[in-house]
Formats: sequence, C-alpha cells, structure tokens
Amino acid sequence: MNKLILVTGGTGYIGSHTVVELMNNGFDVVIIDNLSNSEKSVLDGISEITGRRPYFEQFDICDKEKLDNFFKIYKKLDAIIHFAAYKAVGESIEKPLMYYQNNLTTLTNLLECMVNYKIPNFVFSSSATVYGQPDELPVTEKASFKPADSPYGNTKQIAEDIIRDTVKVNPDLNAISLRYFNPIGAHSSALIGELPRGVPNNLVPFITQTAIGIRDELKVFGDDYNTSDGSAVRDYINVVDLAKAHVVSIKRMIENKIKANLEVFNLGTGKGSSVLEIVNAFDKVTGEKLNYKIVDRRSGDVESVYADTKYANEELGWKARIGLEETLLSAWNWEKYIRNRK
Ligand code: NAD
Ligand code: WQD
Repeated sequence: MNKLILVTGGTGYIGSHTVVELMNNGFDVVIIDNLSNSEKSVLDGISEITGRRPYFEQFDICDKEKLDNFFKIYKKLDAIIHFAAYKAVGESIEKPLMYYQNNLTTLTNLLECMVNYKIPNFVFSSSATVYGQPDELPVTEKASFKPADSPYGNTKQIAEDIIRDTVKVNPDLNAISLRYFNPIGAHSSALIGELPRGVPNNLVPFITQTAIGIRDELKVFGDDYNTSDGSAVRDYINVVDLAKAHVVSIKRMIENKIKANLEVFNLGTGKGSSVLEIVNAFDKVTGEKLNYKIVDRRSGDVESVYADTKYANEELGWKARIGLEETLLSAWNWEKYIRNRK
C-alpha cells in the first residue's frame, strides 16, 4: 500500500508543487486547506500533471473539532507536511493577532493530534526570515535567530520552539523544519504556480504582473545597500526544487534516517542575486524590457541573505538544480497562462 501523507495548505503555492512531487514519487496525498489563500481549481492542475487527484478536505485547521474528526477518519497517516499559514509580512504588522492565532493555533492543533493519534513524522515550513540580517554570510543553520522584524517572522521562530519542546517529550515524534529562502517560479507545465491576491508584495510576481501590463512599473526598493550594484540580495530558489526537498525529507523520516528528533535544513541555492540582477535576467529570458524605477528602501528589509546549503546538500542529500533563468521563464509562462485563462 502506498504511504499516505497529509499536506496542510496543499492547494497553496508551495503546497501544490509539493503534492505533485509526492504523487510523482508514489505517495498518496490528502490535502486540508480552507482556501483562504488558494483556489479549488488548483486540484485540476495537480490532477492534470500527475494523472491522479489527491483527496481534499476543506476546513480551517484552527477548528479543533473538525480536525479531530479528520484524524478519526484518516487514522493511518505516515507523515504530515504543514504549509498552512498566513504569510504576508506587511499584513502581519497590521493584524498581529490574526497571524499569531492562525499560524500558531494550526500548529499546536496538529501537533496535539499527532501525539493523540500517534502520527510519527512532521515536516514544517519555516523561513529564512528567522535569521534576520545574519552576522555571517552565507548563513548556516547554526546561526542564532535575530529579533523578528514582523509578527509573521515571529510566528516562525515561536513555531520552531514549539516543535522543539514537543518532540523533546514525545520521543516517537520526529520533525524536520525546512527554512525556505525565496521560493519563486512555477511548475514547468505552467498548470500550477503562485496566485497572489491583490497587489503582490514579493518581487517576482510583481515583475511578471508589470511585464504583462497589470502594474505600471516595478519599484526597486533601494540602490544604496552595500552590495555589488546597491540593490538588496536574496537567495531565489525554484519552487519545484523546494518541493523535492520535502519528498526527500519524508523519505528520510519514513526510512528512519534522521539523526535527531528535530532536524533543521536551509533550503536555498547558496547563491545570492540582487534585485537588479533579477530584473536583468528576466529581461534576458523573456525578451521584455521591464519598466522599473529606484525608490527608497522598504522598511524591515535586510541588505543581504543567502544560504549555506552544505548541510542540506550533504546530510539531507538534496540540492537545488534549476537555474535562475529557467525559473524566471517558468514564472513568466505561468503569468501568461493565468491571464489567458481569465
Ligand atoms: P500560500 O498562502 O500559497 O499557501 C498556504 C495555504 O494554506 C493556502 O492555500 C491557504 O488557503 C491555507 N491556509 C492558511 N491558513 C489555513 C488554515 N487555518 N486552515 C487551512 N488552510 C489554511 O503560501 P505558500 O507561499 O505556499 O507558503 C506555504 C508555507 O511556507 C507557509 O507556512 C509560509 O509561511 C511558508 N513560507 C513561504 C515562503 C514564500 O516566500 N512563499 C517563504 C518561507 C516560508
Ligand atoms: C525580495 C527583494 C525587496 C518587491 C519575504 C518575506 C520572507 C519570505 C519570503 C515567507 C527585497 C525587493 C520586492 C518589490 C523590490 N516569506 N523588492 N520591489 O522580502 O526577501 O522575503 O518573502 O517566509 O519572510 O519577508 O522577499 O520577494 O518581498 O523581496 O525591490 O516590489 O526584492 O526589497 O530586496 P523578501 P520579497
């Protein structure tokens, strides 16, 4: 019998790509998502790519009673990958309680059910935001957390503490926390991708929406950083590469290869790219000339952050493979696909 994996937030951006990779690797998948930031039609894209449809349950994971009923039905889960969370940094500053409530209640509810129903393996979506501006670059998993710049970032720091404390007293529970750097791009089929609601906060969706004519121009936030061209540097990682790391993590836990109850891995490429390098690479692969202007720095932004990927490469046995240009092209193809669809 195939192993069954629960993917919370599985119709979302990273979740949907992970469901595809899991199913392509022979896993069965059940998704829980309340569709607060995704659409049910994502299931059609997943089915078209994989030739199979994942099970889907639509409800809010904060609802303890519904979650408990779910576990009564799906007793035989082999692992849980927990993506479901709110993720907009700016919104979290405006509505901190909404973020603490959703991001932490979903986590504690799930962990409680895992203990009660003896589900052994948990993968958590953490973020490079926990590092703030690191003292040393590239940043390793051993770097200490900096005070969070936003309630969103704080929920990821607190979440990692909650998981650490929980596995400590539940030796049968194993967890892997994956710290994503900047996930971008879409599946090569262009059948699934990122669906930002309203004006995108993130760089690449803003670029593709500008190129297609929905936005007038990209505002490049700052050209006076201490970087090669003055714009800020990030580690942009292809979402399919990122998704594959989840499959590797699940197999690692199922095959009992973990070295500790809680393992933490950076998921990045190890290479930093500046905002202007991203704009130039986008122009190159699309043949478009993006309209942009330099404006002031965005408050809360760090200057430069990129991953030390040695531990993930060597211990997890995973490496990002897809290059930046191919990734930007996938984001552009996805943007064109969704605009044609509407
Ligand atoms: P997303 O918003 O596309 O996906 C999250 C999904 O969770 C959505 O489909 C949403 O409807 C669902 N959801 C939210 N709260 C829920 C709840 N209470 N009950 C049920 N479903 C709920 O986000 P994403 O970009 O795919 O991010 C996935 C995870 O990765 C999040 O935990 C996010 O914080 C983390 N992360 C994302 C990034 C990034 O840049 N996208 C970077 C680092 C970490
Ligand atoms: C990237 C770079 C901007 C938009 C955020 C979260 C982080 C993580 C990933 C979840 C920065 C610049 C952006 C624009 C720009 N999410 N930029 N003009 O800020 O690195 O990380 O998403 O965990 O927690 O903070 O990503 O895509 O917003 O920005 O110049 O219109 O692009 O200043 O240097 P960021 P981003």
